[in-house]
Amino acid sequence: MNKKVLIISSSFRKGSNSEMLAKEFEKGAKKAGNKAEIVSLRDKNIGFCRGCLACLKLGKCVISDDAVKIAEKMKSADVLVFATPVYYYSVSGQLKTMLDRANPLYDSDYRFTDVYLLATAAEDEKTTVEGAQKAVQGWVDCFERARLSGVIFAGGVNDAGDIAGHKGLTEAYEAGKNV
Ligand SMILES: Cc1cc2nc3c(=O)[nH]c(=O)nc-3n(C[C@H](O)[C@H](O)[C@H](O)COP(=O)(O)O)c2cc1C
Repeated sequence: MNKKVLIISSSFRKGSNSEMLAKEFEKGAKKAGNKAEIVSLRDKNIGFCRGCLACLKLGKCVISDDAVKIAEKMKSADVLVFATPVYYYSVSGQLKTMLDRANPLYDSDYRFTDVYLLATAAEDEKTTVEGAQKAVQGWVDCFERARLSGVIFAGGVNDAGDIAGHKGLTEAYEAGKNV
């Protein structure tokens, strides 16, 4: 209740399946009285991390693009939610780039304690989401106060909008309601 929930939606596709999960999570979180916001990476200008590590001294990235503001929002949220299509058994490149660009938060007084992964894929095997989950878990493990609190995977959806009626949508709504 009354938590600040930041949902980062990383698919660039219109009518995106993973963005539908993001919207359901947002709906649930708002229903339970939380403040929830979806930030889509679709219309953002986000460059690759250059690895200079200046961020650890400055507290912010030297590249001035949209990732700076998104990283600041991530820092002050109670709950972070990453929505991604499975790309080659991992997260999307655009989500991975944003996670790298959030490096200024490492060793900072970040607020988040709970992280959720929402993922979609064409295949629907138990193993399909494992790589994406591992990628996000690896990021979460670098933030001591945070834990990966939930993974919602909607498999068997390939074309945009295929997710309509998928049970993952209800799961995302319920997870949002219970943050
Ligand atoms: C570059 C690329 C790589 C993909 N790799 C996988 C994959 O490894 N496994 C899989 O099941 N689906 C894969 N897919 C299919 C997407 O995960 C699937 O279409 C998903 O529903 C897209 O979600 P979105 O609508 O949110 O973008 C891939 C799609 C693209 C474009």
